[in-house]
Amino acid sequence: MTPQFFRNIALSLEFFVALAQCANLNYSGEAVTTRFWDCCKPSCAWDGKADVSKPVVSCSSDDKPTDAAAGTGCNGGLAFQCSNQQPWAVNDTLSYGFAGVFITPDLTRGGIEGAWCCACYQLDFTSEPLIGKSIIVQASNTAYDLRSTNRFSLAIPGGNTTSTNACAQQFGVSQSVFGNDMSGVSSKDDCQNLPEPLRDGCKWRFDWFKDASYPSAKFKRVVCPSDITAKTNCIRNDDKQLAGEKSSAASLTPTTSVMSTFAAVLIGLLSI
Ligand SMILES: *[C@@H]1O[C@H](CO)[C@@H](O)[C@H](O)[C@H]1NC(C)=O
Ligand SMILES: *[C@@H]1O[C@H](CO)[C@@H](O)[C@H](O)[C@H]1NC(C)=O
Ligand SMILES: *[C@@H]1O[C@H](CO)[C@@H](O)[C@H](O)[C@H]1NC(C)=O
Repeated sequence: MTPQFFRNIALSLEFFVALAQCANLNYSGEAVTTRFWDCCKPSCAWDGKADVSKPVVSCSSDDKPTDAAAGTGCNGGLAFQCSNQQPWAVNDTLSYGFAGVFITPDLTRGGIEGAWCCACYQLDFTSEPLIGKSIIVQASNTAYDLRSTNRFSLAIPGGNTTSTNACAQQFGVSQSVFGNDMSGVSSKDDCQNLPEPLRDGCKWRFDWFKDASYPSAKFKRVVCPSDITAKTNCIRNDDKQLAGEKSSAASLTPTTSVMSTFAAVLIGLLSI
């Protein structure tokens, strides 16, 4: 066996590591979308869900940031979804927002919230009336009730009521202003009945989003725009790596960098 042989092995090892890293972060696929706005503390707002700067900020009933340990308003606690984690139009073809996410284990290598909490995804819509439009969402929550497919449940105020009455508690209003179970309010005019901080996101559904039902999308992981993370205070530590992969060669995590350092040393030794 020649040095060239070992060198090739080392090079393949490096290539494999880079590829595995890419596959891990840079996944993409087809997804269905739904809507939700249940006012519950988002699932990614608890400590320890993923390798992030801070959990997603959740809010007290007067919309002030509250402690990550505070219990959810959907179970007797005092933490709710912050009103400003609602969608907005950047321009006619691009919006920003937040979503409850489920990504199938074949893409996440079996990972759940650790794989997606606070990651951002660009959804390019593939059904009318939204073809040609995209939304970039940050995964602030989970959507576990359908596990056979990738799903993004878009956080849209008044977009879908649930059986809990956390919104009524958070704002001290009747739960009925949030519309019907499973579908939410039925017209842009009804958005005026919502608590004031939620109205713009409610209207977005009837304007930019064209009141689409269950639009499908192609999705891919993207580095989170800072305008989005400014509203959750949550940044994944692997976003840096994703940004590095996008611009140049893969930068590596500690485990894989041990392997690639080993490979590099081997290449170095063999090329003396
Ligand atoms: C509302 O949420 C429920 C539960 O996740 C879901 O089954 C339903 O499809 C949603 N409705 C819409 C319009 O997204
Ligand atoms: C919308 O904004 C995005 C991001 O700034 C930009 O890339 C895109 O060209 C804009 N589209 C239109 C139609 O202005
Ligand atoms: C990420 O995936 C997309 C789509 O598969 C591809 O176009 C892009 O080049 C990939 N980026 C990297 C850095 O691998």
